[in-house]
Amino acid sequence: MLTDRKNRVCPVEIAGSLDNRIRRWFQDPRRILRPHIVEGMTVLDLGCGPGFFSVDMARMVGKSGRVIAADLQEGMLRKLRDKIQGTELEERITLHKCEENNIGVSEDVDFILAFYVVHEVPDQAGLFNELKSLIKQNGQVFIVEPPFHVSKTAFEETIRRARDAGFTPVGRPRVFLGRTVILKKG
Ligand SMILES: C[S@@+](CC[C@H](N)C(=O)[O-])C[C@H]1O[C@@H](n2cnc3c(N)ncnc32)[C@H](O)[C@@H]1O
Repeated sequence: MLTDRKNRVCPVEIAGSLDNRIRRWFQDPRRILRPHIVEGMTVLDLGCGPGFFSVDMARMVGKSGRVIAADLQEGMLRKLRDKIQGTELEERITLHKCEENNIGVSEDVDFILAFYVVHEVPDQAGLFNELKSLIKQNGQVFIVEPPFHVSKTAFEETIRRARDAGFTPVGRPRVFLGRTVILKKG
């Protein structure tokens, strides 16, 4: 049961606040992801919500690439499904339902985005262990956390857990309203 405020899962009812033109203006997915995603990649959008990032990720990986859009809530996945149904992106985006402490994706990926999601996961140590098993040797995991929910100290603790799982921080890109880190294996 999710009683701890820190781990409260973002309700489907507020999906609209995650997927709109105003957000695109200050957190443009292409601008944020351009240095990390190229055509042909297989990428994971962990905690994809209504797919604000998944759709642009699918355009960026092109016809030869693939996006695994994974979320705990069926309602979020349904919103993304409705958005891509009947478009060319339908073939490129695989929707995947996670369990609270098990992502459950069974293939290796080149890039993982976890935007505003890590603080909602109760077992962060377990999460980083699983991410380590999913990411390819030279792949990158891009974590962005909301500064209004995650203090600087809490974010440093998240990075410590990532290090404990065998990740090395290799960058801290600037994202408006984001605490960020890029992680690589080893
Ligand atoms: C604040 S929303 C962010 C959505 C999206 N990343 C974005 O930035 O628009 C967090 C999302 O993470 C999902 N989530 C929370 N805990 C999760 C878990 N353990 N595994 C997968 N998804 C999870 C929630 O269902 C929600 O859709």
